[in-house]
Amino acid sequence: MTKILIPIETASGERRVSATPAAVKKLKGLGCEVFVESSAGELSGFNDTLYKECGGEIVSESNINIWENADVVFCVQTPSDSNLSKLKKGAILLGLLSPYANKKLQNTLISKKISALSMELLPRISRAQSSDVLSSQANIAGYKAVLLAASELDRYFPMLMTAAGTVQPAKVVVLGGGVAGLQAVATAKRLGAIVFVSDIRPAVKEQVESLGARFIELPEIDEKPGESGGYAKAVTPEFLSKQKATLTKYLSEADVAVCTAQVLGKKAPVLIDSHMIEKMRSGAVVIDLAVSQGGNCEGTRSNETVISNGVKLIGAGELPSSVPYDASTLYAKNLTSLITPFIKDGVINLDIEDELISGCLLSDEGVILQNKVFEK
Ligand code: NAI
Repeated sequence: MTKILIPIETASGERRVSATPAAVKKLKGLGCEVFVESSAGELSGFNDTLYKECGGEIVSESNINIWENADVVFCVQTPSDSNLSKLKKGAILLGLLSPYANKKLQNTLISKKISALSMELLPRISRAQSSDVLSSQANIAGYKAVLLAASELDRYFPMLMTAAGTVQPAKVVVLGGGVAGLQAVATAKRLGAIVFVSDIRPAVKEQVESLGARFIELPEIDEKPGESGGYAKAVTPEFLSKQKATLTKYLSEADVAVCTAQVLGKKAPVLIDSHMIEKMRSGAVVIDLAVSQGGNCEGTRSNETVISNGVKLIGAGELPSSVPYDASTLYAKNLTSLITPFIKDGVINLDIEDELISGCLLSDEGVILQNKVFEK
């Protein structure tokens, strides 16, 4: 029987867990043995008793070498080097492994002959939707970004007519209308704000308008930005400069900017520079979800609030972890739905010909299959 380990996440600030008690029950039902490191789910609202009731075996480093014992490890973020070094040769690692330009990870996968599935790389085909970790977590980030902005803003979001006068609704500009951006739009609209969205994929216009927001038209320029597999391609410097000129006007009237614009595997485009911040009103709030990819807004720093010209710049790259119960529940469902078709009589056998597996398989028993990812 395949032994699956659900470890404590060790990355700083991480509160999610890779499997909930319900996910453990599902894996047990398929015949696997599931070992849960004691208190792994504590920060997401799942205590050891809940896991035990669902058939998980609670373990800790003091009673068993949990990493050496595991055939498969579910994780949220890449485990620490010291934990990876304890993995048995040939183990399977499954999670958000941040492989881009990660030579260290590449070397460990080779030396430990690990088969690693990096959930970021899952192809975005219809069959993959239930396993789409980027979408489930980006949805949470978009929602929480707006709540964070609302609590940091010096104004109301909705329009209010009171005996003391009328309060005008807040104006929110969302940069990037993908999964996080559309959820930010929906959340800001529910709070009563007026919302504008900029994206370079023309398909976004209709989606944005169906949510009651206004689309900021793309600059008139011959070379249109490209798109592949639903993702945006990087734009040319000329396009970016024209796009920024348009955005300056919207930002100068905005109370909040939520930055979600990303280009898969590349540095995020800088859409708000220091000159544009100077034009924003003092007290405005910028939430930068792209901060871990370099940021859409100049000057944002991860997990910090920087005040620039009176504007609050908040680097918020880890928002899914701030809603750990739901983030873990959705994440765990994503992982189990990817792996379930490959479990038979309690044994996991990955089919590397399967499009979903081959798309996100970084290494097969230590043989690197996606060299380009490590070189980015
Ligand atoms: P993402 O996180 O890579 O990017 C977020 C947004 O930023 C995208 O909409 C992108 O067009 C935009 N962007 C990039 N450069 C920009 C710039 N210079 N200015 C303004 N916006 C810019 O993308 P995400 O949110 O992960 O997904 C993008 C799309 O992929 C979705 O909207 C959807 O169409 C598609 N998708 C398909 C799925 C499926 O079929 N299974 C599942 C999830 C998403």
